[in-house]
Amino acid sequence: MSSRTQILAKGIAKNYSKILLRNYSNPRVLITGGLGQLGPGLANLISNRYGKDNIILTDIVKPNGEFQKKGINYLYADVLDLKNLQQIIVNHKIDWIVHFSALLSAVGEKNVPLALSVNVTGMQNILELAKQFNLKVFIPSTIGAFGPESPRNPTPDLTIQRPKTIYGVTKVYAELLGEYYAKKFGVDFRCLRFPGIISADTQPGGGTTDYAVKIFHDALETKKFECYLKPDTRLPMMYIDDCLNSVIQFMEYPSDKLAQRTYNISAMSFTPEELYNEIRKHVSDFEINYKIDSRQEIADSWPQVFDDQNARKDWKWNPEYDLPNLVQKMFTELKSIKGL
Ligand SMILES: NC(=O)c1ccc[n+]([C@@H]2O[C@H](COP(=O)([O-])OP(=O)(O)OC[C@H]3O[C@@H](n4cnc5c(N)ncnc54)[C@H](O)[C@@H]3O)[C@@H](O)[C@H]2O)c1
Repeated sequence: MSSRTQILAKGIAKNYSKILLRNYSNPRVLITGGLGQLGPGLANLISNRYGKDNIILTDIVKPNGEFQKKGINYLYADVLDLKNLQQIIVNHKIDWIVHFSALLSAVGEKNVPLALSVNVTGMQNILELAKQFNLKVFIPSTIGAFGPESPRNPTPDLTIQRPKTIYGVTKVYAELLGEYYAKKFGVDFRCLRFPGIISADTQPGGGTTDYAVKIFHDALETKKFECYLKPDTRLPMMYIDDCLNSVIQFMEYPSDKLAQRTYNISAMSFTPEELYNEIRKHVSDFEINYKIDSRQEIADSWPQVFDDQNARKDWKWNPEYDLPNLVQKMFTELKSIKGL
């Protein structure tokens, strides 16, 4: 090899390693459905970790003033509009997609055609884009991807999945299609099945576990709470910080170290009564009464305790918040937000 060719080869190798370094340490991330319960927090985390220029948040709703103040890049993007998504990915040199757009369990039951279109057609678009542009892709699944025939305490990663909501049915399809794209086309698909997520500064989007967020607001505002689930309905739950950290930790983990593409993750499991008792330690005159609605039937078909030992073993998943820490943290956050 001539010395000029050697210099050129060294230069290319240097630049190439720079590209690899940038892609690994500072991926450019697109979040779909980013203005729901989970998106804004993840955008903050990504902005702090990879830089503000490396996050593009998208949704079909207008951001509120509070969000606009954060200065996070925001674009309108309907996940059903493939061409617009292609343009965003190319123009913004996207490396990873976090696909949050979905209709959740209770909302999905009220509008099945829309749930099919967003959760199925939208999700298929995202996997096609991941294949086309060689993107790493994260699509969350849920405890709702299991059904009454699944073992409910504990529920392992690999077991019977016969969900009875349209949300659950579409999420099982997302898990399977993602794994198919990984095997068939080499797409770096990753999926975590989240339990109910509890957050202070964002509202849940119409799921069956929403009571576990509203109860905190009511404890501070009216000291009375009407619960739509029975007192002994046990469901897996997680504080939002643990959930968002799990996405980053899982996405950064080397692909060849993951034995699976879809993992259960959990942090705690509690019933409305256990949550109420923990909240009473902070608000002693807090009252709860129960008025059961159709969400009870959904909750009765879901896991009570999630077995997440594979996540803990394979990529060192280790949540920080248990029930007492969660309740303490929610009150600290909400009091500061509400100026109490
Ligand atoms: N929050 C939880 O407790 C929980 C639990 C398990 C799994 N998950 C999963 O995590 C993801 C995010 O959940 P979330 O709680 O933030 O949901 P959310 O309902 O709060 O937000 C979903 C967002 O999707 C957007 N959206 C709807 N139709 C769209 C379309 N056509 N194009 C683009 N965006 C569209 C909505 O505007 C909304 O902002 C979802 O996939 C959900 O299934 C959430």
